[in-house]
Amino acid sequence: MFRHHFDKVRPVCPLCRLSHAVESFLAIGRVAVEEDGEILEGSLICTNSACRREHPIIDGIPVVLADASSWLNHQVLGVLKREDLSDFILSMLGDLSGHSSALDRDRGNNAIYAHSHWAESNPSYLTLFEAGSRLLAAMPAGVWLDIGCSLGRGTYELANITGDLVVGLDLNFSMLRAAQRIRRSRRVKYQSRRVGLVFDSHEYELPGYPFEQVSFWCADVSILPFVASTFDGAVCMNMLDCVASPLGLLFEVGRVTKPSSESLLCTPFDWAAGATEPAAWIGGHSQRSTPYQGSSLAELRRILSVGNEAGVDTGLFIEAEQDNVKWRLQTHERSTTEYDVYCARLRRKG
Ligand SMILES: C[S@@+](CC[C@H](N)C(=O)[O-])C[C@H]1O[C@@H](n2cnc3c(N)ncnc32)[C@H](O)[C@@H]1O
Repeated sequence: MFRHHFDKVRPVCPLCRLSHAVESFLAIGRVAVEEDGEILEGSLICTNSACRREHPIIDGIPVVLADASSWLNHQVLGVLKREDLSDFILSMLGDLSGHSSALDRDRGNNAIYAHSHWAESNPSYLTLFEAGSRLLAAMPAGVWLDIGCSLGRGTYELANITGDLVVGLDLNFSMLRAAQRIRRSRRVKYQSRRVGLVFDSHEYELPGYPFEQVSFWCADVSILPFVASTFDGAVCMNMLDCVASPLGLLFEVGRVTKPSSESLLCTPFDWAAGATEPAAWIGGHSQRSTPYQGSSLAELRRILSVGNEAGVDTGLFIEAEQDNVKWRLQTHERSTTEYDVYCARLRRKG
């Protein structure tokens, strides 16, 4: 985390927001490792004297969460993961730990999104991102937020367009580290699953991106550590069906973006109870109800209508849309899932 990036977004303590609905600014606390103006290890500290919560900075990534303990228990592999192991030893460890082990899940999940973001030919994420971006009325400018950035392709593409700071935010530390490693090394390095426990390594140089304009943060989209109207726009790609509260996500996007700004929302409405309780899904249930019969798209349009037809006001409304944009996720060489994604340009009310 560069100090000037910190100054630009002025983060607040998510714990204070959650517990007392107070916006307490964070300050840079201890700096344990700093290189060329970038804090690689250290802490941010809450300036509220009743809180004083420390938030770690690990590998240059601020971890700004209300409940960092339970996050760490889930993400310890990603945090402590070694990056110096040869493909030979990784392959042996992969065989020894076996299919669906924690290591296999981490490698497999990273492989799926790395391939979608960074495959050298036709990365599917990029196709979707470009189709979505064409919906925007104005060229993105100013400070943008990439919500659920995963391995960061959208963050880099946005920085290329805006030439300004883009914050990529996710909960998955393993993915954030991979995104951050690209920034520091200017090289893409990832593995894709060929078959079973067999992975192929890919590596290439990535010149030409404004690497100093991207910043990766570990934070929860349901309680973003930023004050209202911090960002000039946000992209929210394939996130709506991945969070505990899709409606809460829309409220947060509306809150942290500036009045009259535009944002991009893309979703395949691929609801799964493991990520979101069915009661919180937007459509996808209550088929017997009229007139929408469980349609996710109809329900989303109601929620994001200018006149707040659903009775909730996220501060956002749909201004333009395109449906059935293809997005492919390859799980292994012979298995690919193809989604028809709905994309919308959202306008923040003035
Ligand atoms: C389906 S993936 C989409 C990733 C990326 N936007 C893309 O389109 O390739 C969902 C992402 O959301 C992240 N995620 C899930 N819940 C989150 C939360 N509450 N806060 C932040 N990120 C979250 C996951 O770690 C994952 O990277």
